[in-house]
Amino acid sequence: MSALKDVADLTESEARTEHARLAKEIRAHDKAYYQNDAPKVSDAIYDLLRLRLLEIEAAFPQLVDLFSPSQTVGAKPGGKFGEITHAVPMLSLGNAFNEEDVADFVGRVRRFLGLSEDQHVAITAEPKIDGLSANLRYEKGRLIHGATRGDGTTGEDVTLNLLTLQDVPETLPGTGWPDVLEVRGEVYMSHAHFAALNVRQEERGKRAYKNPRNAAAGSLRQLDPKMTAERPLRYFAYAWGEMSAPIGETQFEAVQRFADWGFVVNDMMKRCDSVEALLEVYRGIEESRAGLGYDIDGVVYKVDRLDWQERLGQVSRAPRWAIAHKFPAEQATTLLEAIDIQVGRTGALTPVARLTPVTVGGVVVTNATLHNQDEIERKDIRAGDTVVIQRAGDVIPQVVRVTNADRAGRGEAFDFPVICPECGSHAVREHDEKTGKLDVVRRCTGGLICGAQIKERLKHFVGRKAFDIEGMGTKQIEAFHDEGLVTEPSHIFTLKARNAAGEITPPLQEREGWGETSANNLFAAIDDRRDIALLRLLNALGIRHVGEGTSGLLARSYGSWAAIRAAAEGLEDETVRSEMLAIDGIGETAVEALDQYFGEPQNRDLLDRLSDQLNVADAEQVSTDSPVAGKVVVFTGTLERVTRDEAKAKAQSLGAKVSGSVSKKTDILVAGPGAGSKAKKAADLGIETLTEDEWFALIGG
Ligand code: IVH
Repeated sequence: MSALKDVADLTESEARTEHARLAKEIRAHDKAYYQNDAPKVSDAIYDLLRLRLLEIEAAFPQLVDLFSPSQTVGAKPGGKFGEITHAVPMLSLGNAFNEEDVADFVGRVRRFLGLSEDQHVAITAEPKIDGLSANLRYEKGRLIHGATRGDGTTGEDVTLNLLTLQDVPETLPGTGWPDVLEVRGEVYMSHAHFAALNVRQEERGKRAYKNPRNAAAGSLRQLDPKMTAERPLRYFAYAWGEMSAPIGETQFEAVQRFADWGFVVNDMMKRCDSVEALLEVYRGIEESRAGLGYDIDGVVYKVDRLDWQERLGQVSRAPRWAIAHKFPAEQATTLLEAIDIQVGRTGALTPVARLTPVTVGGVVVTNATLHNQDEIERKDIRAGDTVVIQRAGDVIPQVVRVTNADRAGRGEAFDFPVICPECGSHAVREHDEKTGKLDVVRRCTGGLICGAQIKERLKHFVGRKAFDIEGMGTKQIEAFHDEGLVTEPSHIFTLKARNAAGEITPPLQEREGWGETSANNLFAAIDDRRDIALLRLLNALGIRHVGEGTSGLLARSYGSWAAIRAAAEGLEDETVRSEMLAIDGIGETAVEALDQYFGEPQNRDLLDRLSDQLNVADAEQVSTDSPVAGKVVVFTGTLERVTRDEAKAKAQSLGAKVSGSVSKKTDILVAGPGAGSKAKKAADLGIETLTEDEWFALIGG
């Protein structure tokens, strides 16, 4: 590319020739990639070709025609973006809801790092922008690709759309940037542009966006970058991913360098030395909130020193060195018209308040959750009441309280059903065996005979964090299920064959709302998901207490679908069970739920039929090669090189299970000076005891 002329120096005829050549080459690569699954060039080269084409088109708009690859950007035939696996996962943030949570956060950081009382910990505070995060990868100062966060591991390739943003430089000005630099930040839409966009949407007979964040997400994900360009989006840079060289010693410094390299950084960011100072910045930002012209939903605090950030590391999918201090939820008052019952995929009967529509924090709310029977009784909520509702971020709106509780003439107290409104089975509240307490949730006992449960399970199965089948959403599942075409997951994968064999009448493509193309797109989207990641498959099954996190732990520990099935179907064996319980993060409840699910012959048959339709990819097993993987480790006495929390986190990241007490199950005791009864007990039990130095030697530093 470096030998190429600057686009500004091209004559029109040179531009035309080069444009035609590029278009032809890109189409050939598209074909190789999408139709033959055999790319001939790396993604980086491909992106460069596209970027060059786009540059030429920007300078010579007369060259753009319907057949230009720029009109079908990165779109697969199914109308989707390509995927980008992040070089470094994109994390989320833990939340603080009040001043005490903030003090706790700072306390945790200090404890983890083992700081003495006279040591300062500098922490930055900056607005939390309410948009969507995007990663921009630069190599040798040139934008290579840009991606959405996605599930944190894999995002969507929205490079060309991001390039339409005035705040996203295509090449980095200045000097000193590392060869590989991934800048992370928030894409957002200003209030003014949001309002203008909604006016245009309505003029065009399209649906208005609910809030600026949804509008930003919708705009960034337009398949045609020209549409994105029509909707001005902005970008604040505030974090980073992979970097070939360090860009500073502190968060503050690193962000200042982003500014030197042409990015917009938020000028409200401050560096503080105490909890009080953080809270002062918080209050200041909250006060200026209304006049900013864009949405923010809190303040983010980050430990300033990058070497400390590194030591603090992460837990689950959030860093220990940062936290989001959220603004309080917004509230409004409205009429509660009725209370309905919804049946979820685990059979839970959830009461829902139907409300007279009201705007809360810019969003029209018509329903709110009432959680459960006890909650309705505690708050004495009745149909016909005037209620205060609140909404915070993406959380389902909630009823806070009734405002007319002492007025006469209220409706009857709500009579919670004891029969499932969907299938007529008994709905019961079980006793928790351990605590002896009554479960707060009333559940339908109908299991797979309850249409509502099957439907909800199927919706979960095709959902974004499970099979994520494009074009197969709530509406389609409802329709296919009600017609008896899809009553279990495997049926989704046999739809195409049944349709082709004439078993579905009328065939899908002849139905209202469907055509040849949309039916084929759906079948292609389904086929696309036959290759499925182990984590997604497990999560898709919707086993109680086995959500995304637990599915991930199981996938990484067992590695393959066959291994997981063998373990989950063999849980009556004590060794198998204790091995599963030894996985850090997996407890009795999840193991019990797996045992119940896989112990049911009906479920095993269903899984056999499903497995026949899939190729389940193995998961990367974490640290099974580490010398302490699967070992139960206990730390005791004073550690001198790191704090106890840090040692524990490190051991866990290497696949060890850290326990607080010595027992027969303990494999290794790490004993520092002052170790007492634990060391004695370990010696009595013949358990291997290591000094702190020996421990570090064992785990490699
Ligand atoms: S830092 C590892 N800073 O909040 C930490 N995030 O709830 C990376 N967000 O996914 C994030 N403003 O989309 C950071 N000033 C800010 C932010 C911010 C908004 C978003 C970001 C992230 C989400 C987590």
